Amino acid sequence: MKFVVTAGPTREPIDPVRFLSNRSSGKMGYAMARAALEEGHSVTLISGPVCLEPPAGAHVVRITTADELFDAVHAAVGECDVLVMCAAVADYKSVSFAEHKQEKQSGDFALTITPTRDILASLPKENRKYFVAGFAAQTRDLEANAKRKLIAKNCDMIVANDVSRDDVGIESDENEVMIFCQSGEEKRIARAEKKLIARELIKIISHMRELSLTKKT
Ligand code: CTP
Repeated sequence: MKFVVTAGPTREPIDPVRFLSNRSSGKMGYAMARAALEEGHSVTLISGPVCLEPPAGAHVVRITTADELFDAVHAAVGECDVLVMCAAVADYKSVSFAEHKQEKQSGDFALTITPTRDILASLPKENRKYFVAGFAAQTRDLEANAKRKLIAKNCDMIVANDVSRDDVGIESDENEVMIFCQSGEEKRIARAEKKLIARELIKIISHMRELSLTKKT
């Protein structure tokens, strides 16, 4: 199958040296890309700025901003069987970009920020040929928030993890996830290295995609 995997954070520039972003390391997305390759799938890895070596064999597309990720995903999904949205897209971007580094001021400073476009929510909802797995990063009410995103973002499946913990999730080498599917199926993968979680997730995604195809025919 053809996988498109997005990974890492986006950066929204404010001036030539400053940006809005988040703590995503890209480890989960890169692990997903590697696990899909190990299973014999082809992989386009759309990556934000991270300090990781891409897995051999992946077609790598580098992006920086949420707008660039939006365009890269839309350009790639037409040809794919599975989209895995691991990227931690910045929710806001600065309304303006200063061409020169902004000098420090003595008083308070207000920056006007505006929401970035939601990439998952922008994908076609009807007659989609590819399976969509989203990720939900939560610090509370994991199940309720993940299920809300599953519906709001029209995903076939959502993988939820708790990003408030230090031992798993964001920046960590380990993760622990809950999976919620449109079909109503739920699964939990206990704490393990991200590469092992990724292998399990690729198997689950392949299985869920098969089931959804059988239902459509
Ligand atoms: N996502 C997206 N476009 C955005 C923001 C997020 O496609 N502009 C995707 C992420 O790649 C992920 C899923 O939506 O697969 C959930 O991301 P998350 O950060 O958990 O949720 P948000 O929509 O950003 O909501 P919130 O920050 O309020 O939790």
